Amino acid sequence: MTFDLMDEHAGEAYKILASLVTPRPIAWVTTVNAEGVVNAAPFSFFNVFGSNPPLVAFAPGNREPGVPKDTALNIRERGEFVINLVDEPVAEAMNATAASLPHDQSELENSGLNLLAGESVRVPRIAECPAALECKKHSILEIGGNRLVIGIVQRVHVRDGIFDPESHRLDPNSYRPIGRMASPHWYCRTEELFEMKRPD
Ligand SMILES: Cc1cc2nc3c(=O)[nH]c(=O)nc-3n(C[C@H](O)[C@H](O)[C@H](O)COP(=O)(O)O)c2cc1C
Repeated sequence: MTFDLMDEHAGEAYKILASLVTPRPIAWVTTVNAEGVVNAAPFSFFNVFGSNPPLVAFAPGNREPGVPKDTALNIRERGEFVINLVDEPVAEAMNATAASLPHDQSELENSGLNLLAGESVRVPRIAECPAALECKKHSILEIGGNRLVIGIVQRVHVRDGIFDPESHRLDPNSYRPIGRMASPHWYCRTEELFEMKRPD
């Protein structure tokens, strides 16, 4: 089958692409609004795009035409955010924060999660997550109903025990992020790994 996303199948673009381009990592983004309320929401249109400078991007679609989601609004206003990375123990809590709440209400209220103050940004991270990236906004591109939030990572926090000080990499056997799979409700575990050496 072939899908013409510019014409006949334009209305199915999300379903097709979000199911095909998988697994995706999940950015569980914390931000703070003008009144100091901490907002948390997951975004799987997310990845890292470079290391010099350390570049990340994620894409919050508009809530309604022209109306940004709270995360995008807060980043536009305050210029800072934290990307909390998600493993299975926090998966349910992450999913719960995808609820659309009024701008002045925190998704983290009654969640049982703990916040730790940011060090390079005035935005807290979620203590229960295996890792967190403190980011400053580089720019926000608006392309149709999408916003691409581009950030520069200032500081990285990782849970004790998952960083291998010898290889200077995360230990793949102790860091087990979950992945976003087919729309609307599928995820994957990263339990089964295999190694493949690159050609010289
Ligand atoms: C796993 C997962 C991934 C998601 N990824 C995205 C995404 O990439 N872009 C998006 O606009 N919404 C995404 N959502 C929906 C948002 O999390 C949801 O709209 C949320 O209410 C936005 O919150 P905010 O208004 O506080 O920013 C995702 C939801 C889940 C559960």
